[in-house]
Amino acid sequence: MQEFPCDKPVLVTCGLPYANGPAHIGHLRTYIPADMFVRALRKMRQDTVFVCGSDTHGTPIIVNAEEHHVPPAEFVKTYHKIFEDVFRKFQIGFNRYGSTDDPTNHHRTRSIVMDLQKNGYVYPKSIKVAYCKSCSRGLPDRYVEGVCPYCGSMARGDECDLGCQRHLEPGEVLDPRCRICGTKSEVREQEHFFFRLSEFGDFLIKYLDTLHATPNAVNYAMEWAKDLKDWCITRNLEWGVKYPGHEDLVVYVWVDAPIGYIAFTEEYMGSVGKDWKSIWKGDSRIIHFIGGDIIYHHCIFWPAMLKGAGYTLPWGVVASGMIKINDKKFSKSRGYIVWVEDDYLAHGFHPDLLRYYILSYTSHTKDINFSWKEFQTKINKELVGSFGNFVNRVLTFVDSKHVDVRGTVDPEVSEAIRVAAEVMKTEIGNYEFKKISDAIITLSDVGNTYFQSHEPWKLIKEDRGACEHVLFNCVQLVKAMAVLSEPLIPQKAAEIWGMLGYEPSGISAVGLDEASVPYVNRPRPKPKILFTKLEDKKIAEMEKILDERVRKAETKAKLQGKKEEEAPIQEAELVSIDDFGKLMLRVGKVLSCERVKGSKKLLKSMIDVGEDQPRQILSGIAEVYTPEEMVGKTVIVIVNLKPAKIMGIESNGMILAADSNGATLLTVEKPSDPGTKIH
Ligand code: MF3
Ligand code: ZN
Repeated sequence: MQEFPCDKPVLVTCGLPYANGPAHIGHLRTYIPADMFVRALRKMRQDTVFVCGSDTHGTPIIVNAEEHHVPPAEFVKTYHKIFEDVFRKFQIGFNRYGSTDDPTNHHRTRSIVMDLQKNGYVYPKSIKVAYCKSCSRGLPDRYVEGVCPYCGSMARGDECDLGCQRHLEPGEVLDPRCRICGTKSEVREQEHFFFRLSEFGDFLIKYLDTLHATPNAVNYAMEWAKDLKDWCITRNLEWGVKYPGHEDLVVYVWVDAPIGYIAFTEEYMGSVGKDWKSIWKGDSRIIHFIGGDIIYHHCIFWPAMLKGAGYTLPWGVVASGMIKINDKKFSKSRGYIVWVEDDYLAHGFHPDLLRYYILSYTSHTKDINFSWKEFQTKINKELVGSFGNFVNRVLTFVDSKHVDVRGTVDPEVSEAIRVAAEVMKTEIGNYEFKKISDAIITLSDVGNTYFQSHEPWKLIKEDRGACEHVLFNCVQLVKAMAVLSEPLIPQKAAEIWGMLGYEPSGISAVGLDEASVPYVNRPRPKPKILFTKLEDKKIAEMEKILDERVRKAETKAKLQGKKEEEAPIQEAELVSIDDFGKLMLRVGKVLSCERVKGSKKLLKSMIDVGEDQPRQILSGIAEVYTPEEMVGKTVIVIVNLKPAKIMGIESNGMILAADSNGATLLTVEKPSDPGTKIH
């Protein structure tokens, strides 16, 4: 069955990035395939609107803005611009890239909430919410941390992000603590508003069955739909969309974020004098591209909300696999991350190379591994060695030998083009983007073989007419490759289009059928090299940057110990002043210091603590302090610690350090002699 083109308007959206930090390649894992999908549909003359925007509300953004001492409104603007800029550079061509703080979205959200109220799907209820006495504030969502009641892993107030990925309702998380100060939180009664999600179970099960979704999305959602709880949709916060009728509350961020899809459609359609209702209230195909981590929100909450408020339901949900870095789980804190701007663009890599890598690595629902080596291998083999090689050898030959490209298209050539175009037409509706990119590389392989086997370099001397015919067929293949590859590598496709003598930017408006329309000879500029090989040296540099980051993160994590997981102080753990008195702390002066052989972490110091003999003390700070800088430092030492042997060396005491910046030695504020007591 061929799903596209159809006679309905199509809307494609991408999961909204939080305006809370720069773009990394994990973001592109969703946006690049979505953009390719849209470009391919347009090539098939499918009427398609493409929108996205910044997700600007929710507690992580408020916490982050607070930490940076800027108002949230200002904070989110910075990252909104950064995302816009990255999308422009990668030619991710949204018709509208809005913001959930746009007035249109405030208006649309409030209107939908009122529809839900009117239709009887919202009710007030008094609930127990977490409250921190020491910070004197309520603790919505990520202000609270605790244990997931379903799987037992560490969880945030609204999400089991490290474990089973379930959404958690206010009050659900066990052993809740304030994220800011670590205190065990109390519970307080508060009135909130609930959406009757539990009434949508049967509807969702039927609906999910008709949804054109990737299997990874529906399979999970089907299970969840069997057991639904009502959903608390208000929060006690200032920043967000005010809840209609109760302006002291805002709606939960997962209410106003997806409604952004509607608001951005309104904004775009309004700007071109069209009616957004043809999409959101009419017969349309709405397709959401999302990351695999937000399936619950798109397959459960969102369709129920739309149904309850009387809007058109999504037709498709396309959930991407994740990105791994060097075969490790993507992680900011562990250093396994590639920032789009700083780690990629700033080093001069062309956006289309990464577009190609992401689209062609594996099927859309599987995980992609990114390593610089694999990137180099893939680009050099496929884009440089096959695709670019064919384009350049053909156009260079034609140019340097002044070949008149004329003739008829050979059946094998027209068949190869037809097959590649057919793959695009059929696989686009299956969300099988890799199959499409493979078909394009196959086309360039066909071209290389054709060129090689017809030996035009001989023909030019023997039979000029035959040579013209061969080159005509080769140029035809180049033309088809430009048309077919535009959805994948739009900037490079435009370059080829220009080399064929057309207006480069015209390529995006050219339809798929143009691939098999015979090329008519025309003046062409001198051909330029399309892709250059990625050199080992450059790749080694990039690997070094990544390795360095991982190493730094490891050091930091080790030196901090298990700080993150350490439980906050509990009453049972309080010590008396007498307990404290048992510790003997002294001012010490480092007389000499050296590395411990065979250990990256350990320094061995001789420290004067006011006794006859200096003490020998080992400390795990060698990754932060050099032996040279240790000598002469005034430090704080526990002198009555039981002696310990580490790597066969005795240590008599302990130097105190704070966890900041890997390790920061404690010292005294005014000069003090070695041996001075501390209490
Ligand atoms: N900002 C969310 C995230 O990154 C995604 C929001 S998608 C929308 O997880 F549906 F809410 F818009
Ligand atoms: Zn869990």
